[in-house]
Amino acid sequence: MRAVVYRGPNDVEVTDVPDATVQDPTDVLVKITTTNICGSDLHMYEGRTSVEEGKVLGHENMGVVVEVGPAVSRVKVGDRVSVPFNIACGTCRNCLHGWTSFCLRTNPIEGMVGAAYGYANMGPYDGGQAEYLRVPFGDVNLLTLPEGTEHENDFTMLSDIFPTGWHGTELAGVVPGDDVAVFGAGPVGLMAAHSALIKGAARVFVVDQQADRLRLAESIGAIGVDFSAGDPVEQIMDATRGRGTDRGVEAVGYQAHDPSGEEHPELVLDNLVSVVRATGGIGVVGVYMPQDPGARTEAAQQGRIGFDYGTFFTKGQSMGTGQAPVMRYNRQLRDLIVAGRATPGFIVSHELPLDDAAEGYARFDRREDGWTKVLLRPEALAS
Ligand SMILES: NC(=O)c1ccc[n+]([C@@H]2O[C@H](COP(=O)([O-])OP(=O)(O)OC[C@H]3O[C@@H](n4cnc5c(N)ncnc54)[C@H](O)[C@@H]3O)[C@@H](O)[C@H]2O)c1
Ligand SMILES: [Zn+2]
Ligand SMILES: [Zn+2]
Repeated sequence: MRAVVYRGPNDVEVTDVPDATVQDPTDVLVKITTTNICGSDLHMYEGRTSVEEGKVLGHENMGVVVEVGPAVSRVKVGDRVSVPFNIACGTCRNCLHGWTSFCLRTNPIEGMVGAAYGYANMGPYDGGQAEYLRVPFGDVNLLTLPEGTEHENDFTMLSDIFPTGWHGTELAGVVPGDDVAVFGAGPVGLMAAHSALIKGAARVFVVDQQADRLRLAESIGAIGVDFSAGDPVEQIMDATRGRGTDRGVEAVGYQAHDPSGEEHPELVLDNLVSVVRATGGIGVVGVYMPQDPGARTEAAQQGRIGFDYGTFFTKGQSMGTGQAPVMRYNRQLRDLIVAGRATPGFIVSHELPLDDAAEGYARFDRREDGWTKVLLRPEALAS
């Protein structure tokens, strides 16, 4: 089958690899209809992870079931499904408590909890930027979707970034009437803004310096804040008459940078501690790593990020972090899409054949104007 394979920094190749197959009795084989490139893939693409050469990438997958193992009883051949990026066993302590992103059984790497498809340190699983994907524990993991091809570009956000954006607002504790500051207007930040508005936030400020992404944020009713035009904290303080926001969402991650492009991994955390009011909540879904050999300082190389903890403590804020447990939210978010109340597909900028993945990676990585979210299609959608 054709698949996107990691070759090295700034180098992915679409090539032939052995077909994905059913290996365990609980496996399900999915024929991919849409698979997305994620900002998380760019950390690997830029050589800022320990991903091994030859890995098939892709953790944002959806498609149609073509084969089920003998122990699968719920999911059926022909089902249209969304595949959560977390691979969960469904039976360990964390899974049973809804924390499928911290599954204790699916990641065999020493000291790691939580597994995913096609990702550095997240277990031996191939990704779905390919024609077919093997899904372990298929009955546990797969979300079934209404059949057909309707809402394909909305439903494809259910595997990761819509639940991740929603999770950012949950960790922050967003309730109706809140003012919310979202840092990062990439796909995850835009999903967090969409989520906060669906939950009834009064005002949602979205900080970035990319004009095209800020425009998208404004198109759904958020307020764009351009950090290249001045300190974003001051801009939001002015707009809230010095009060700050009730909640904040971090949707940037450890490669946060200043307007010149220089990386400062503590920058957005500091901004959030400053802009969120005392006792407010901060949800961090942007990724931070325990090791980052490419970081500028020795401390950051060891994952030690020197943010303004003293002020954080003094203000009595709370902070939640980590990978999103997609299954906690994906059913409800699917139903918001079906009901017409959520339209996460608004961020889709490019729909490319799988064979054009290398170009998609390169242009999305350069954050070229208008390259917000790239979908890959192994074959054209049947109408
Ligand atoms: N926790 C999870 O489960 C989960 C899931 C998916 C993605 N992620 C992570 O979320 C983060 C965002 O993902 P994405 O797909 O939106 O990526 P992205 O790289 O497209 O978006 C990041 C955005 O942040 C902006 N930015 C950079 N520095 C900034 C600053 N100082 N202030 C404000 N904005 C700044 C960039 O201009 C960019 O638009 C990544 O770290 C990704 O790995 C986490
Ligand atoms: Zn993703
Ligand atoms: Zn588990």
